[in-house]
Amino acid sequence: MLRTHTNNQLNKNHVGQTVTLCGWVHRRRDHGGVIFIDIRDRYGLTQAVTDPNTFSTAHHSANEARSEFVIKITGTVRLRPDGQANANMESGEIEVLIEEFETLNAAKTTPFEIDHESNVNEELRLKYRYLDLRKSRLQNNIVQRHKVVKMMRDFFDRKDFIEVETPILIKGTPEGSREYLVPSRIYPGTFFVLPQSPQQLKQLLMVAGFDRYVQIARCFRDEDLRGDRQPEFTQVDLEMSFVNQEDIINLIEELLIELSEKLVSHKQLASKPFPRITWKEAMESYGSDKPDIRFEMKIVDVSDIAEKTAFTVFNGAIKSGGVVKCLKVEGGLELTRKEIDDLTELAKVHGAKGLAYIQIAEDGPKSSLVKHFTPEEIQAFVDRSGAKTGDLLFFGADSFEIACNSLGQVRLACAERFGLRDKNKLAYLWVYDFPMFEKDSVSGQLSAAHHPFTSPKDDQMSVLDTNPAETIAKAYDIVLNGYEIGGGSIRIHDQKLQKKIFDLLKISSEDAERRFGHILEAFTYGAPPHGGLALGLERMLMIYQDEPNIREVMAFPKDSKAKDLMLGAPAAMPTETIDELHLTIKQK
Ligand code: AMO
Ligand code: AMP
Repeated sequence: MLRTHTNNQLNKNHVGQTVTLCGWVHRRRDHGGVIFIDIRDRYGLTQAVTDPNTFSTAHHSANEARSEFVIKITGTVRLRPDGQANANMESGEIEVLIEEFETLNAAKTTPFEIDHESNVNEELRLKYRYLDLRKSRLQNNIVQRHKVVKMMRDFFDRKDFIEVETPILIKGTPEGSREYLVPSRIYPGTFFVLPQSPQQLKQLLMVAGFDRYVQIARCFRDEDLRGDRQPEFTQVDLEMSFVNQEDIINLIEELLIELSEKLVSHKQLASKPFPRITWKEAMESYGSDKPDIRFEMKIVDVSDIAEKTAFTVFNGAIKSGGVVKCLKVEGGLELTRKEIDDLTELAKVHGAKGLAYIQIAEDGPKSSLVKHFTPEEIQAFVDRSGAKTGDLLFFGADSFEIACNSLGQVRLACAERFGLRDKNKLAYLWVYDFPMFEKDSVSGQLSAAHHPFTSPKDDQMSVLDTNPAETIAKAYDIVLNGYEIGGGSIRIHDQKLQKKIFDLLKISSEDAERRFGHILEAFTYGAPPHGGLALGLERMLMIYQDEPNIREVMAFPKDSKAKDLMLGAPAAMPTETIDELHLTIKQK
């Protein structure tokens, strides 16, 4: 070892000892002839100080050192002078008198400062990720990630799960995104597909009898990126045999409670057990399939009242088969005209035609719409929503989806405006009874809402035959503070039912055979009933660590345009390599 201690270890018990420390120059201060250096490593900081009279060679070398030099010092631990202890530093009571100083490696001036958080643009941070990772914020995130994964592995081990690594070069498994392809050199014109998830392989492990599988699994999805999406990310992926939905939900809930209480104890669990609501209730009450329930603010239906009013926007929406929904904003009277206009724009971005509102002032209701309603009708809105003086009511008149969805967005924006999204709360929520399918509004074509291996609920078989778009699935999501952090389902284990679902999805028999023949065949050799779930590791960590996006909890993320700015990937390849893969690149 080049060192005797790490930089968090020394305290007043070491006073008088000779120690050797290594690390980076975090900060160097020249105090009139005496040089102070804070040495940094992953573990912490130690203050070291020179004495030009007694150890002048060491002093001169230290004088040459600059930020981020890698150094090694040997010296004696001593108490800091009275009043100079630093309670924020683990080694804050002591300092080391530098007797020998060695520069192990010099460093150029870094493109941004490491010793404090400043507003560095993200491109630069990602290009020099290895420097960004020197900062305590990212180091904490990566260390926390390690702890979370370790805790989960231990949990699953205790519960008899077996970790199995599934391959990355596969045939692809549909999860709704575009796939990354890898051309085969040996078989011209053929490709491997990188997994969007280990979905089919984990199901095949159930057919193989593994009973309980878990994997910290890398997944690849070529999709439009957002703060909570990366092309390459990690799932805590699991599958179980001979279980029902309840068993999976209970197990994951136990895991998340243990995890939150042990490793995220600086935040409060909003409720335990976690609330559970159906997808329909989630859409109706919160206008979202991943509601943030750190605050109440539920959307209520006022269609029956609105229908009878003279306001054509309202009664017209009902006549054309739509609904009128109402969102009460407590204290909303204080929203300015400009704020209401901005919220109206937000609603429009999400498909609404407008955002009617009534403010409940001391001297009665205020709104340009008051003239359209009788006092009794306004009172009925107030009663239904439970509004009080000082509140505001927003209305959405549209199809069920648009009215709920647009008010759901307004709900989140108002919660932000009124400071209701308490970052110290962890509000987990189960959403279940998802629809099996999504229907294309133009073509009417069905697609799998979760994935095509999801089982319909037992009582839905006739719906599947008569009105398939309405079928409810044994599918569930775990939501945290308004983010979908995981999802899963009970699977189909019957070949005939699986074929029927492929039919409904208009996957032809040939196509089904080509893409999923292996799993259909596996189901003919004794497939147990099974189901599972996958947690999005980065999304959980992002919330636990109060980070604005998942890049901050990944060591080497891609940027928001799916590029690795540090490695310079993706990159063009030499012609020989392209030839070897039997590919031709089309010139744009
Ligand atoms: P799903 O597609 O819902 O389900 O993915 C599970 C969880 O993975 C996370 N996630 C992502 N995180 C970061 N970047 C992405 N691009 C990304 N996409 C998804 C989300 C999501 O909830 N095989 C099924 C699971 C199952 O049925 O067992 C699946 O992959 O947090
Ligand atoms: P208009 O009659 O179009 O001027 O709209 C009157 C008010 O109703 C405005 O505040 C609009 O924002 C609102 N509004 C219009 N269409 C809708 C709708 N479909 N849902 C809710 N509010 C609407």
